[in-house]
Amino acid sequence: MATNITFHPGAVSTEERAELLGQKGATIWLTGLSASGKSTIATALEQHLLHLKLHAFRLDGDNVRFGLNKDLGFSPKDREENIRRIGEVSLLFSQSSTLTVTAFISPYKSDRDLARALHAAASPPTPFIEVFVDAPLSVVESRDPKGLYKKARAGEIKEFTGISSPYEEPDAPEIVIKTDELSVEGAVEKIFGYLVEKGLVTI
Ligand SMILES: Nc1ncnc2c1ncn2[C@@H]1O[C@H](COP(=O)(O)OP(=O)(O)OP(=O)(O)O)[C@@H](O)[C@H]1O
Ligand SMILES: [Mg+2]
Repeated sequence: MATNITFHPGAVSTEERAELLGQKGATIWLTGLSASGKSTIATALEQHLLHLKLHAFRLDGDNVRFGLNKDLGFSPKDREENIRRIGEVSLLFSQSSTLTVTAFISPYKSDRDLARALHAAASPPTPFIEVFVDAPLSVVESRDPKGLYKKARAGEIKEFTGISSPYEEPDAPEIVIKTDELSVEGAVEKIFGYLVEKGLVTI
């Protein structure tokens, strides 16, 4: 733990930055089982926002594990550290006036709450929108786009969320998307509608 460190503020406040760039930042935090549709929806949402000339950036589970978090595995402790770092990185992106879309299973409520608390404690507080990408285990298991459920059932993957590791559903997410009922386009529309309604994007 570093001790002799001092925070160096910028010359442009977060509010002035938003004013100058004509855009506010926010973190749109997708959580849900593997194959629930987080990456699919995050990718479509990012594309939708960029086509409207809004700065958007996606932080996706596996991608981040190739680089920033390549030292981490899937034990409870490593999952916690994975999400802690993503919470910090998404806050930095959002403070830069970017609409930041994260796509991580983030199975533990306490870790998501920590990310939310980080955003709330920032100055000024940064919007944190928790999106529960919800689909029954039977549905995600039948999709199994990466063949991971098959491997987990065969015991080839330990600590697999939903099979041998818990997924704690959000109690009060800002948005719920049931991907066995709503299309990808419908999901993007729902999230985008929320951003407009809350004044986070102006069109
Ligand atoms: N309404 C829907 N919304 C999103 N994805 C859907 C929907 N209907 C079917 N799918 C399919 O479900 C799969 C979801 O896979 P995706 O990689 O997006 O999941 P994920 O939640 O990111 O999983 P992981 O945590 O393993 O990265 C894709 O094959 C996608 O085409
Ligand atoms: Mg994914």
